Amino acid sequence: MMKFHISTFGCQMNEHDTEKIIWVLEKIGYQQTNNRNEADIIIFNTCAVRKTAEDRAFGQLGELQDLKRKNPDLIIAVCGCLMQKEEIRDYFLSKHKHIDIVFGTNNIHKLPQLIDRHLRTGDKVIDVIEDTREISDNIDSNRKYSYKAFVDIMYGCNNFCSYCIVPYTRGRERSRSVKSIINEVENLAQTGCKEITLLGQNVNSYGKTLEEKTTFSQLLALLNKIEGIERIRFMTSHPKDFSDELIEAYKSLDKLCNHLHLPVQSGSNRILKLMNRNYTKEQYLERIYKLREEIPDIAITTDIIVGFPGETEEDFEETLDLIKKAKFDSAFTFLYSIREGTNAAKMTNQIPDEIKHDRFQRLLDVLYPIGLESNKRLIKTVQKVLVEEISKNDENILSGRTECNKLVHFKGSRDIIGQIVDVEITNVKTFTLEGRMV
Ligand code: 5AD
Ligand code: SF4
Repeated sequence: MMKFHISTFGCQMNEHDTEKIIWVLEKIGYQQTNNRNEADIIIFNTCAVRKTAEDRAFGQLGELQDLKRKNPDLIIAVCGCLMQKEEIRDYFLSKHKHIDIVFGTNNIHKLPQLIDRHLRTGDKVIDVIEDTREISDNIDSNRKYSYKAFVDIMYGCNNFCSYCIVPYTRGRERSRSVKSIINEVENLAQTGCKEITLLGQNVNSYGKTLEEKTTFSQLLALLNKIEGIERIRFMTSHPKDFSDELIEAYKSLDKLCNHLHLPVQSGSNRILKLMNRNYTKEQYLERIYKLREEIPDIAITTDIIVGFPGETEEDFEETLDLIKKAKFDSAFTFLYSIREGTNAAKMTNQIPDEIKHDRFQRLLDVLYPIGLESNKRLIKTVQKVLVEEISKNDENILSGRTECNKLVHFKGSRDIIGQIVDVEITNVKTFTLEGRMV
């Protein structure tokens, strides 16, 4: 029996692609292993969003050379966003001659054929579809958890934020049909799934490419009716498209969790313009204030980039000011990373690493206390928690997530994993809550 090992380097979409790859390989009888040394095929599902993810994949691929020397039959396959870019693909192939198979994000279903071709001919097999208009909707996933699942609702992105490589790797925006999404979610519900996370680069523009126009809020309303599903989340929305209709959805749909991830990227209007984000700091804050007014207990998280080309101290202080006003529950923070092919990579006023790191630290110094404050408000409240796993350090401690997506640790036994239970919050830290089941 062939064994495969797969490493995932990127975001939730990348993770979900990994679940699809596992499904495709298990369907042809391959078995997953956690040990690279015993694998017959090693797959790297790469990410292109930041240089650090690229460097990690590149470095780890280099380390596989030894394994390949010891076992010349070992098959090394590389896929994911990085492989969608011709220059990067060619660079990887020229430096790492031991790569056997390259495939992209649009032809995961063909992997068995590609392996077969490689086994028959011994040739390097490279198969990447750059035209991303088609949606291959016939792949299932072998999901990591039975009680929660990612569901793609759209692919690609049309926004062309000037720093971002995604429109060049994942192609133009296209939506999956309502019917196929509902079908998938109904099947998930039947197999005991309680929580779905809808995935798309810009879920607010869902439906624009469909013949039968459906808005994202309408899709949410349809999914809200599916019996068995208890929680609906989504990732990621764009502030410029964050509509009143969606605020209404938060109010009217009982299964839509009270958490919003709304990447702001910067608080400086000048930088937002250079980033091609199409909203101002004031417009962003107006959306947040309105949402908090309507849904007072909503948790709001964001993405922030520091050190975008030309970012001045004043621009950066605008970002700090925005964080204080928006009172984010938490944020993913990134050092700006040059991505060849994007407009921002051509800008000549790149920020020195030293300044980037200094601003990054100052950003965290402002973010963390605000996050802690918002967690403190949960002390003594009872939260509904979807129990996810046993703690790595202590098998009597469980962890799970509240509706507002905060991680909670509490005592309990493994037989309640997958259930939604009531937990009273007793203590909080910056990133986690502690509680006891009631
Ligand atoms: N440099 C740093 N961060 C980036 N992101 C996207 N592209 C870059 C880049 N070139 C961040 C954005 C986005 C998140 C997924 O990754 O904040 O929202
Ligand atoms: Fe990248 Fe902007 Fe599209 Fe998000 S919305 S994927 S940051 S181009």
